[in-house]
Amino acid sequence: MAQLYVCKICGEPYIGGDAIDDCPHCGAPKSYLRDAEEYSQLWEAELNDQEKKDMQETLNLEVNATGYYKKVTDANEKYKEQNRLFKQLARVEMEHAEIAAKFLNIELPEIVGEDPKGSVEKDLARTKELESHAVELYQKFLKNAKNPNVKNFYIALIHAEKGHLDIVS
Ligand SMILES: [Fe+2]
Ligand SMILES: [Fe+2]
Repeated sequence: MAQLYVCKICGEPYIGGDAIDDCPHCGAPKSYLRDAEEYSQLWEAELNDQEKKDMQETLNLEVNATGYYKKVTDANEKYKEQNRLFKQLARVEMEHAEIAAKFLNIELPEIVGEDPKGSVEKDLARTKELESHAVELYQKFLKNAKNPNVKNFYIALIHAEKGHLDIVS
C-alpha cells in the first residue's frame, strides 16, 4: 500500500510502498525517512557560533558543487551517461545547500560554481576531489556539533557524499 513519507533531513516528501534505501532528494539513509505525520523540521534549531561558522562553510561548498555539477550537465551533451550522473548530483547538492541556508535562516544565495574541466575524465576526477573533501570536512563539523539536529544533518551528509564518491570511484 502506498504511503507518504517525509525525509527528516531535507523535509521532502516521498510516496512509496516501502521507504526506499536512501532519500532520493538528499541521499540521507533510510533510517531518516519518516511517516509524514511524525515529521518535524530539522533546521528549526539554535546554532552556536562554531556551528554557524561550519554551516556557512557547508553552504559555500554545496553551492559551488551545485553550480559546478549543473555546468557539467549542461556542457556535455556529447557524453549522455555523464549528464544523468551530474544532473542527479546537482539536484542532491542543491537540496543540501537549501537545508544549510535554512539552518542559517538566510535566503539561498545565487548558485555560482566553478567551470567544467574540459573532459569526462577530468570532471570525474574533480568530482572525486570535491566529494572526498566534503566527507572530510563534514566529519570534522560532526565532531564540532553540539546540537542534535546539526549532528543528524552531518551524519546524513557524510552518508550522501560517500555515496557520490562510491559512484565516481
Ligand atoms: Fe532527504
Ligand atoms: Fe552535498
